[in-house]
Amino acid sequence: MNKISLSKPIAGCMRWGNWGAQFSTSEYRWLIEQLVDEGITSFDHADIYGNYTTEADFGTALRGKNSLRENIQIITKTGICMPASSNSYITKHYNNSAKHIIESVENSLRNFHTDYLDVLLIHRPSPLMHAEELANTMYQLMKEGKVKTFGVSNFEAHHIRVLQKHIPIAYNQIEISLLYPKAVFSGILETCTELHITPMAWAPLGGGKVTDDTHPRYRAITKAVEPIAAKHGCSMNDVLMAWLYKHPAGILPILGSVKPHRLKQAQKAADILLSDEEWFHLLEAARGEEIA
Ligand SMILES: NC(=O)c1ccc[n+]([C@@H]2O[C@H](COP(=O)([O-])OP(=O)(O)OC[C@H]3O[C@@H](n4cnc5c(N)ncnc54)[C@H](OP(=O)(O)O)[C@@H]3O)[C@@H](O)[C@H]2O)c1
Repeated sequence: MNKISLSKPIAGCMRWGNWGAQFSTSEYRWLIEQLVDEGITSFDHADIYGNYTTEADFGTALRGKNSLRENIQIITKTGICMPASSNSYITKHYNNSAKHIIESVENSLRNFHTDYLDVLLIHRPSPLMHAEELANTMYQLMKEGKVKTFGVSNFEAHHIRVLQKHIPIAYNQIEISLLYPKAVFSGILETCTELHITPMAWAPLGGGKVTDDTHPRYRAITKAVEPIAAKHGCSMNDVLMAWLYKHPAGILPILGSVKPHRLKQAQKAADILLSDEEWFHLLEAARGEEIA
């Protein structure tokens, strides 16, 4: 499976629209241009963000800006169906059928005013997933040039093994942070390495709560992070990002800040090299117990 070059960090767009900042079109365009100027060129979306409105808001900002489109990578996700004013669903559910995926991709292409998606991810593993049907749908979309690269999100090792029998998977977007370090021990990162799948980390700062010292668990993390940040001459959030970068699986963080200076700052974290001891010290603080 061909991979494409993605920026570090990837900009997460979940909070740009109705689920957060409620940016206007000019604010969207300003933020995209600011980030691209700094080399942050990859943007993470999902069809459902903003109750199915954020893709279109972002796309409106791109409209008529062909050179901007060519300089960015659009990642989006499909497969979750959520009740919203634009549909008649009554229950949140998953749908990874050929019909749903194709309709969803066509809709995303219209939303973004583009004829290709750089990366399409299946948002959640469904117990009702037919792996062969899904793989054939992806092959068709890639053959048509509508999707450049295919991946998954929130897949555990066993889900990956079933699908990988039918199609190579380029990315797996999962939750990993010091606040939620489960992936470090679950085996998923090793499976990704074995199968040449690049892991992406969603909520790499734990949704901004990791350095919130009002909670005892977060306070323990803050206490461990502070001296390490001082030693490396960086911010506490840089340490959290550097903790992800140190993992040999080659994790790509998706940062959900809507503030360009925070995303620019996060680029610097890729150059911070934590020692093995620092890495485990942070893990111990996060888990509240020493490793065996
Ligand atoms: N695949 C999935 O199932 C899935 C699920 C959830 C999210 N995602 C993706 O992951 C992205 C990131 O997730 P997230 O936004 O929940 O978590 P995050 O990147 O860990 O946290 C971002 C949040 O932290 C706040 N924050 C506070 N201090 C910050 C600092 N110093 N630097 C940066 N941010 C700081 C930000 O506020 P400000 O904006 O004020 O900076 C923002 O609200 C989403 O945008 C989405 O693309 C994927």
